[in-house]
Amino acid sequence: MKVTIVGAGNVGSTCADVIASKSIAREVVLLDIKEGFAEGKALDMMQTSTTLGFGTKIIGTTNDYTKTANSDVVVITSGIPRKPGMTREELIGINAGIVKTVSQNVLEHSPKTIIVVVSNPMDTMTYLTLKSTGLPKNRVVGMGGALDSSRFKTYLSLALDKPANDIQGMVIGGHGDTTMIPLTRLATYNGLPISDLISKNDLENVSNKTMLGGATLTKLLGTSAWYAPGASVAFLVKSILNDEKRIIPCSVFLEGEYNQDDICIGVPCIIGKDGCEKIVNIDLDDQEMIKFADSASAVRKMNLAL
Ligand code: NAI
Ligand code: 2OP
Repeated sequence: MKVTIVGAGNVGSTCADVIASKSIAREVVLLDIKEGFAEGKALDMMQTSTTLGFGTKIIGTTNDYTKTANSDVVVITSGIPRKPGMTREELIGINAGIVKTVSQNVLEHSPKTIIVVVSNPMDTMTYLTLKSTGLPKNRVVGMGGALDSSRFKTYLSLALDKPANDIQGMVIGGHGDTTMIPLTRLATYNGLPISDLISKNDLENVSNKTMLGGATLTKLLGTSAWYAPGASVAFLVKSILNDEKRIIPCSVFLEGEYNQDDICIGVPCIIGKDGCEKIVNIDLDDQEMIKFADSASAVRKMNLAL
């Protein structure tokens, strides 16, 4: 299995590192426009293989798309990240041009690939990729919900003082500070509803921290985060390559699901070898449906800027 990652910056290289060190793919190609940058990162990572004990081959290239040929999955992280005080939405102008060109280039050499879009504003970039390439909707998947859900579960584990891997929870809606929807009602700790274990106020607090998860890190780091984003992409790629059919919230094209049309936004998806193989319909209550509709309006407004 071969994975190409376009953009060898913080998120792209972390994703490559996780994919290689966990032997998720046989070959990873890192591509960047910065001369020598992807080659350097790839070589450095390859030199951890004997120490960490993995056999994945990592190849770096400066903009040579022939090296990406026949990739099973292509991850697009190229573009500029947030700086403190910036929203994901402010990146639209620059990143739209980059994402459009990159997706055309990768498809020339990997016509059957599944594209995972990471560049922000991610829901809009996913929509742009789908529309500009004309690919079937299952083959264009935006990553945001996996990351937001991992932040949600982390904050829940801190509030409960319980191990994070015993916690289940999901964030749907747009990948934006005000558009994401942590599904607090459905979160569980080893099968027990978390709403029975902590106060309404504490749960509200967790929800707010989750929504500000990216902004908090951007403020602390001076740029946007990469460990959890890179690992979340690798987790999504693994579900595709191994045909795991996990339910992962991803930004995909809706045609009536959740009462929305002509939009890419985060909903629970079954992720397997064909990308988004099915959208899972969960029964949202009235309040959650209102939040989802509001989130979709905000994403749709953003799409108008394309
Ligand atoms: P970064 O600046 O570290 O890396 C971006 C890389 O893209 C740079 O190395 C740059 O040279 C490269 N690049 C720019 N134009 C290119 C082109 N035309 N072809 C190939 N490479 C090109 O940024 P970072 O932190 O890795 O973030 C990347 C993107 O991912 C940003 O848009 C950021 O907002 C987004 N992001 C999305 C997340 C999500 O959950 N969807 C989470 C974290 C970041
Ligand atoms: C994040 O959530 C900025 O999308 C990026 O960290």
